[in-house]
Amino acid sequence: MWRGAIEDAIGKIRKNLEVHPGTFPHITNEKRYEWSANEDWIEGFHTGLAWLSYEYSRDSFFREQAEGHIADFKKRLEAKICLEHHDIGFLYGLSALAGWIVEKDESARELALQAADHLVGRWREQGGYLQAWGPENDEKNGGRIIIDCLLNLPLLYWASEITGLPKYAEVAYKQAELSRRYLVRGDDSSYHTFYFNTETGEPLGGGTHQGYTVGSTWTRGQAWGIYGFSLSFRYTNDPVFLQTAKRLLRYFLDHLPEDHVAYWDFNVPIEANTSRDSSASAITACGMLELLDLLPEEDGDRGWIQQGVVRTMHSLVNKYATIGEEAEGLLKHGSYHVRGNNGLDDYMIWGDYYYLEALMRLERGIPGYWYERKAE
Ligand code: GLY
Repeated sequence: MWRGAIEDAIGKIRKNLEVHPGTFPHITNEKRYEWSANEDWIEGFHTGLAWLSYEYSRDSFFREQAEGHIADFKKRLEAKICLEHHDIGFLYGLSALAGWIVEKDESARELALQAADHLVGRWREQGGYLQAWGPENDEKNGGRIIIDCLLNLPLLYWASEITGLPKYAEVAYKQAELSRRYLVRGDDSSYHTFYFNTETGEPLGGGTHQGYTVGSTWTRGQAWGIYGFSLSFRYTNDPVFLQTAKRLLRYFLDHLPEDHVAYWDFNVPIEANTSRDSSASAITACGMLELLDLLPEEDGDRGWIQQGVVRTMHSLVNKYATIGEEAEGLLKHGSYHVRGNNGLDDYMIWGDYYYLEALMRLERGIPGYWYERKAE
């Protein structure tokens, strides 16, 4: 049933790799990608798309492309190019760790571990958090955590599993727990960011970067929470993370418009030109499929989660995907930073990645690159 959508997507990914060798897609407002160097937080998604395409097609073209990207990520880590942030999991999980998962490539495993070392170095012992953005003592962002970080934690949990060293998983667990306590609000909505005193760890208050207001709920942040807490539950088995993922998901699904694809913020006034964020719905689809993989058959929540998957994926495939169109992106109507007027109603490379991951989960049971797969 999803095969046509997957094959259309893989055709576009092949063309992008052929037409833009050695470069990575970046955000524009132009209904096309800007292709440039590996120096933002998003390049791993392009590599992840190549790995998914390889796993589906077994065409060595995609594997070679992904391996070429890994060589680029290695240079980036050695030269520390634009790595003063926590999005190391997005970058190295979907490139190096994926290379280990798919090909059992020892050098890719080593690179993924080096990346985990870099990420764990962002743990601030005094404040007790993993700093999201900027160097230590950064005036604006020194004491700041953000909900997106939950998707960077799998790299740390994995590093502990593979090395037997608890330090990575300890940081990941503490960060997930801190995120649960301070980023998730009592009504199951979420803050995008939260500030702490850098010296004492005292919680100072919520904030936002990409949301409509501090107290609103940025839909992609909520989506990162859904998928991120599900993954923390997979690694830790702590039921509080499962419960949190379900609560955030209920909120997300209960606040969707009629076509089941989110606007960019749950509190923004809806007018004729209000942007959607299809990427938030694609991430949430993966979160729901992850939950369904984790929940026992008798779990009473499976029914509404299954319904959520079906509604979301039918809408994305039938109304938002570029199937049959001449296009670089796979999903239309994503949003990056609406208040900053950057990436409006356009393709988002992570939206493309999660859309294809969701399709691959549905069609082939391939769950992306957030954890190692159990031997059959
Ligand atoms: N992690 C940044 C974003 O979701 O826009």
